[in-house]
Amino acid sequence: MKIQGKHIVVTGAAGGIGRALVERFVAEGARAVVAADYDLAGARATAEAAGASVTARKFDAGAEADVQDLVRFANETNGRIDVFFSNAGVTGPVGGPLETSNEDWDSLWRIHVMAHVWAARAVLPQMREAGEGYLLNTASAAGLLTQPSALPYTVTKHAAVALAEWLAITYGGEGIRVSCVCPQAVRTQMLVAAMGQSEGASDVVAAAGLIDPEDVARTVVEGMAEERLLILPHPEVAQRMAFKGTDHEGWLADLRAKI
Ligand SMILES: NC(=O)c1ccc[n+]([C@@H]2O[C@H](COP(=O)([O-])OP(=O)(O)OC[C@H]3O[C@@H](n4cnc5c(N)ncnc54)[C@H](O)[C@@H]3O)[C@@H](O)[C@H]2O)c1
Repeated sequence: MKIQGKHIVVTGAAGGIGRALVERFVAEGARAVVAADYDLAGARATAEAAGASVTARKFDAGAEADVQDLVRFANETNGRIDVFFSNAGVTGPVGGPLETSNEDWDSLWRIHVMAHVWAARAVLPQMREAGEGYLLNTASAAGLLTQPSALPYTVTKHAAVALAEWLAITYGGEGIRVSCVCPQAVRTQMLVAAMGQSEGASDVVAAAGLIDPEDVARTVVEGMAEERLLILPHPEVAQRMAFKGTDHEGWLADLRAKI
């Protein structure tokens, strides 16, 4: 899909990857962009920097009523939505079942999985009626491989990938395109927060190949042009997936040796 002339909603747009996506979509000729975030001041700053075709909107990705309200707002402001980009995300706690509370699990499920389900529920009717539309979510390389330091992040990002695959299979025949963006380390506030959480994190980040949000946005536009399900801003993720696919036990042993 070409971006020119499209109406696009981007969540998590107050900074980082979301802000870079908004700026890139405007540069590519999007007709209208809604920049949504629970940080309204940040979303407004994105809108001001990106230009007059961008409108800021406050919303909480963890609440279905807010996702519905966002879709209603975008429709009333700019008409039918062509692209819904569910990008908002959080680091979540480090650790596994022993360290993570049920409240943290619930919060990550809502933001990383249910937000995308609610978005699909809210926009699919208008996209199916039009016979076209594009749903994207930002998962992570942790959703294809794993992130040994953080179980809830890993599990919920895997679920986001599975959701994107299911939507692509089920609605692809009706003209609905689906992509899932799976970066490793990107220079954003989230990464700064994650690096502060665990010792040795900066070595892990360095090994993961740190890139900028603008690099992700460029890869997204390329991936959308090809309508590819998996958009991998770090090409080495595809190599790790191939290793996992051909030698699962070897892949597990390799990761075990690194923790
Ligand atoms: N930075 C990385 O290294 C990296 C790597 C892989 C995947 N990701 C994913 O990229 C996406 C964007 O993250 P980022 O790196 O740009 O970080 P970021 O912290 O700069 O941006 C995340 C945005 O989401 C917003 N947000 C969080 N919870 C929300 C909620 N409940 N409702 C509305 N908005 C909410 C935040 O306010 C923030 O503006 C996330 O889904 C993240 O998991 C990031």
